[in-house]
This record gives sequence, C-alpha cells and structure tokens, in this order.
Amino acid sequence: MLGIIGAMNEEVASLKEKMDGVSIYRAAGMEFCQGKLQGRDVVVVRSGIGKVNGAICSQILADKFQVTKIINTGIAGSLRNEINIGDIVLSKDTLQHDMDATGFGYPAGQIPQMETSVFEGDTGMIEAAKECCAQVVPDIGVHVGRVVSGDQFVSDKEKKKWLTETFDGYCTEMEGAAIAQAAYLNHIPFLIIRAISDKADDSAIISYEEFEAKAIEHSVKLVTALVEKLD
Ligand code: ADE
Repeated sequence: MLGIIGAMNEEVASLKEKMDGVSIYRAAGMEFCQGKLQGRDVVVVRSGIGKVNGAICSQILADKFQVTKIINTGIAGSLRNEINIGDIVLSKDTLQHDMDATGFGYPAGQIPQMETSVFEGDTGMIEAAKECCAQVVPDIGVHVGRVVSGDQFVSDKEKKKWLTETFDGYCTEMEGAAIAQAAYLNHIPFLIIRAISDKADDSAIISYEEFEAKAIEHSVKLVTALVEKLD
C-alpha cells in the first residue's frame, strides 16, 4: 500500500478523481481515500497545511494502513536562481528550517537528542520519479536536492538567502520534513515531490496565486505515472 499526502485540497482532488473503488476512513479531521490508482493500492489524503498536520497524517498512514512507501506531493517556493516556476524538485533529503535550539549550541535545524535531523529521500523512488519526469513532463526542469520545511510561508528575500546559505536548500514548503520524520521513525521509505509555484521572495504571494494551478498540474501528472512504477 502506497500513501500519497498532499497539503491542500487542490493537490489531492485531481488524484482522487482518477481513483477507482474508493473507500473513506476519517481520522484527525482528515479523509483517507483508499482505492486503486493506475491499478495500484493507494491511500490518498489531504493532510492540511503545516508540519503538525503532515506528521499526524504520516503516522496514521503507518498505523492504520501499514503503508510501505509515502509520497508527499505539492508545491513549494524555489530557493535557487536556476530552479524556475513550474520546475520539479525531488527530495534528496529534507530538514526543518525552523527547528531552533541554537541557544543550547545546536546548529540551526538540528533536532536535539535525535540521531539525525536530515531525512534522506529513498533513492529508488528518486530514480523512478526522474524517469517518470522524462516521460510525462519532458520539458520541465527536474532537480534533486534538499527540501527545507517550516511553519512559514517564505516571502522575503532575506529569509530566502538565509535558507539557501544555511541549509543549501533547493526549495521551501511547510510539511515535507515533518512527514519525512514520521516516515523515518516508522522505517517507511519516502519521497517529497514539489512543483515550484513561486520564488519565495517579495514576489512570492503574487506568483503563487498565478502559478499554483500549473504547478499542481505538473505534480499530479508525475505522481500518477510514478505510482505505476513503484512496487
Ligand atoms: N509553498 C509554496 N510556496 C511556498 C513558500 N514560498 N513558502 C512556504 N511554502 C510554500
């Protein structure tokens, strides 16, 4: 069973439309849609926005559905000049940029008393996703790099600079690392797939509104193709 988490309604609505034999399970204010997508057993769910929602959602996928892989799809702000609106970022790894125990001497982003704070995307899933991108969105830039997550919509160039310089982030969003941390704690391979909706700077809010739909279209196309490739 494959778990597919989107943060927002728009992201999961198109996936749900493509599913057959759907049954619904409700928990924690979330609707878990279990059924077939491209002939594969999946659970598609909207987590809601932010890290807490993402982590709770991941844990329910582990406990209730025993998912064997988790995909987190959605949109993100670019942290690099060469990553354009509409491009796709696949998570080489991910961390929480707003985890801050620097007062105790920990580096920014490090979770005290955990053996790691950087969660690695599954290499098999990354390779499969790259192949799918070449097939279904061949004209779009695909980047494999670090996804930095926090409970913040980043729309300011100083913050963006800090995220790039401190963490070498490729894109920023609000759930991925929390979903990944829960996946890691439950020994479930994961991949974050984010289509870029904005540049995470002073233009972010305007371009987010303009490009959100296009970005979602790209990630949905990719996830639909990827589901067929994964075992
Ligand atoms: N999701 C899409 N764009 C984002 C941004 N700039 N910051 C955080 N989450 C986002």
